[in-house]
This record gives sequence, C-alpha cells and structure tokens, in this order.
Amino acid sequence: MDREVFQEQYGLLGSSDAMRQVIDKIMQVAKTDITVTLQGESGVGKDVTARAIHAMSERKNNHLVIVNCGAIPEGIIESELFGHEKGAFTGANESRQGYFEKADEGTIFLDEIGDTPKNVQVKLLRVLENGEFFRVGSSKVQTTDVRVIAATNQDLWQMVQDGSFREDLYYRLDTVKIKLPPLRERPEDIIPIFRKFVKEYSAKYDSVFKGFSDEARELLTSYRWPGNIRELRNVAEQLVVLEKSQFVDKEKLQKYLKGRQHEGSADNLPMLSEKPREQQQQSSDDFDGKDRELVYRALVELRNDIADVKKMFANFLYSTFSQKNLKALPASVRDEVDMDNSEVGGVNVNVGDSGSLGMQSMPGQKDIEEVEESELSTFFDSDDIPSIEDAEKFLIQQALKRFDGNRRKASETLGVSERTLYRKLDQYGLD
Ligand SMILES: Nc1ncnc2c1ncn2[C@@H]1O[C@H](COP(=O)(O)OP(=O)(O)OP(=O)(O)O)[C@@H](O)[C@H]1O
Ligand SMILES: [Mg+2]
Repeated sequence: MDREVFQEQYGLLGSSDAMRQVIDKIMQVAKTDITVTLQGESGVGKDVTARAIHAMSERKNNHLVIVNCGAIPEGIIESELFGHEKGAFTGANESRQGYFEKADEGTIFLDEIGDTPKNVQVKLLRVLENGEFFRVGSSKVQTTDVRVIAATNQDLWQMVQDGSFREDLYYRLDTVKIKLPPLRERPEDIIPIFRKFVKEYSAKYDSVFKGFSDEARELLTSYRWPGNIRELRNVAEQLVVLEKSQFVDKEKLQKYLKGRQHEGSADNLPMLSEKPREQQQQSSDDFDGKDRELVYRALVELRNDIADVKKMFANFLYSTFSQKNLKALPASVRDEVDMDNSEVGGVNVNVGDSGSLGMQSMPGQKDIEEVEESELSTFFDSDDIPSIEDAEKFLIQQALKRFDGNRRKASETLGVSERTLYRKLDQYGLD
C-alpha cells in the first residue's frame, strides 16, 4: 500500500516532511507485533494512529481494546487490566476477565500510560516481556497474545527522573517510539488539512464556505494551535456552520482562535465572548448571525460540560458504591455508568457489563458506604431530576468528604484534573 492510500484509508492527513516520516514509520511497524509508543500533545492524532496500526495489522479481525489508564481509579486498575478471581476483594462475586485477556490475539491500546500507578507498571512490564500475568487473587500464571500500543502526552523520561515511572518499563516501551509532531511544527499541513475538513463539513451541513482573506490565511498558519488537529477540525466545523457563504477576514477568524487552553478542556473550543455587555449589543439586522453564533457556541460548551459531568459521575459511582447500591439507582442513571465504563475500557468489547461495577476496597479509604447511601437516595429518589450543576456540586462535596478534603484524591476519584476541580470549587463557591 502506498502512503497516500494508507492516509486516505485511515484518515491520517498531512503531507509535510515530518508527517511523511511518521506515516512511513507507522506503515513499517503496523504489520509486525512490535510494541509501539505514540508520543505527542493532545489532539495530534494518537488515537487515530493507534486505530490505523491495528486496522493495518494481521490482527485486524480480532479485538482492539482501548484502555484509558488515566481514567481508571487507582484502586481498581490492576483488576481492570488483568481480571480477578471470585472473592479476591469485597464485592468480587464472580471471577472476571481483564482487558489483557479480552484483547487476546488482538491489540491493546494503553492510552495515557504515564498515569499508570507504579505497582501496576511492574505487572505491565511482565506482560509486555513474555505475555504473562496474574488475575487479582490468583497465583496461577496466565498468558495472553497481545500487541501493545501505548500513548502518552507526558515526557516519560522526565517521569523516570522524577521517580514516577519505572526505568525498565520506559526502555521496554522505547523500542519503537513514534513522535507525532504538533501542528505548529508543520505549518504547511494546516491549509490542506483545513480544506479537507471544510469539504467534509460542507457536505455534512449542506453549506458553502466562501474563503479567507490573505491575512486570515496567514493567521491560520501562524496560530499556535494548542489543541492541534482537534482544534483545527473544530474551527473548520464552526466556520462552515457560522460563516456560511461569508468571506472570512482576519478579525472574523480571530474570534474562533481564542483557544480555551486550560487543562481538562476536551476540545480547546473558543469560549463564549468575554466582551463587555455593551460591545455585544447588536443591531436587529445583525441579530440573526450573532445570536446563532452565541447559541451554537453555548451548545458546544454545554455538550462538553455534560460529557465532563457524565465522566465524573461514572467514575464516582464506579469507585464508590457496591453492586447492591448501584442496582438501587434509577435505570437512567445506571445506563450512564454502563455507557461511560465502556468508553473508559474499550471499543470493540463490552466492558460495561454489570460485573464490572462491584465495589472494591480501595487502600487508605474509609468506608463511607452507609453514610452516603442515604444522601444518595435522597438525592435521586425525588421525582425532580437534579440540575447538572446540583449533581456536579453534590459529587464534588461527596468526594471531598470522602477523602477528608484531600483535593488530589478527590479529583482522581472524580476523574478530572486537580485544576478542573479547583475551577469547579471556585465556580460553586465551595470551600
Ligand atoms: N493526522 C490527522 N489527520 C486527520 N485528522 C486528524 C489527524 N490527527 C488527528 N485528527 C483528528 O483530530 C482529533 C483528535 O485526534 P486524536 O483523538 O487521535 O488525538 P489524540 O492525540 O489522541 O489526543 P488526546 O491526547 O487529547 O487524546 C480527531 O477528530 C481526529 O480525527
Ligand atoms: Mg487520545
């Protein structure tokens, strides 16, 4: 297969020298069983690349199991990865396969591998070296035949220096490292990729994008693109929808490039305009366009916020409540948990089965089940569905209470960064 066909088929765009080298390397290793580590900032295409490698490999007809190591609470990651035996811990009512078993004969994609706790890193090393692992609670060695793709946006070598990443695992992962360059280091890719996206969205929304002024085009290529291709895709989508049939000049484009750069922002979307009220006033002629823009942006932000809350909620339930308590929740709430766990755990396998929801005793954690059970039922038993803000506030308060105000642990349990937690505390005026 030649490079262009491969790129077209797997949606990995870019024809800069840097990208060509990357694609050649991907194509060289895809068909082998060699462990590949993808390194790069958020939005550069680590996910797309992992899927392409699997799809091009001999294993393509078997499972690709995607595990986001950063999203699984520390206390249960080992049993999620390697499975457990019945009775291995409180709530382990049945034995259960882990992701390494589910991925047998296929590929496992360990995303955000830098977030794996150190005690689990040693177990990863073993499975990477000879395919051997133990289920939690078992002394019987198991084997699996998986191809491993790992990804990180952290500097693993720096983490080795800091003592948070094992050196032996680092070297094991370092055999084939593919560094996906940020968009700003290959500016010649920006316009062609942007054009592709515009074409795609114009067809999707049945809309016409008129084009840029020279200055706007220059800005597009000189902008930093902190959210990389994800951000470029979002900007293309917004321009197609909001600047339909309009010629886009530099000032207009600037509005879309105020990348929201805080950690935890899923999409690096532009924020709602922060201009003072009077500057936002518009003539009635203008009403349509500006209003539509505001509504559209608000909707996109809302979509992201809902995704954040769902993730927080699922993580919280997942790591806190016993099977019994989860079953007592309204079906709609349980569905959310199932849905999110399948996002956390994999694409081609159903990891959201109810067997995965058992409570496990997490080390160093007090037993809060009884205290919180009543609060939770008061919260959900009422006929009124709580607002997203109330639900979020409730979860944050519970998480902080559970860890005696320790914000690091609370944010881990909620599955958000500490910074996001601080922002939410501030937003809700919580102490
Ligand atoms: N080379 C590329 N060509 C076309 N689209 C791309 C490319 N790289 C990334 N994208 C698009 O950008 C978005 C983000 O890509 P992806 O999820 O693979 O990034 P990532 O590196 O895994 O980011 P994160 O670290 O945030 O998980 C997706 O919509 C994807 O389709
Ligand atoms: Mg990713």
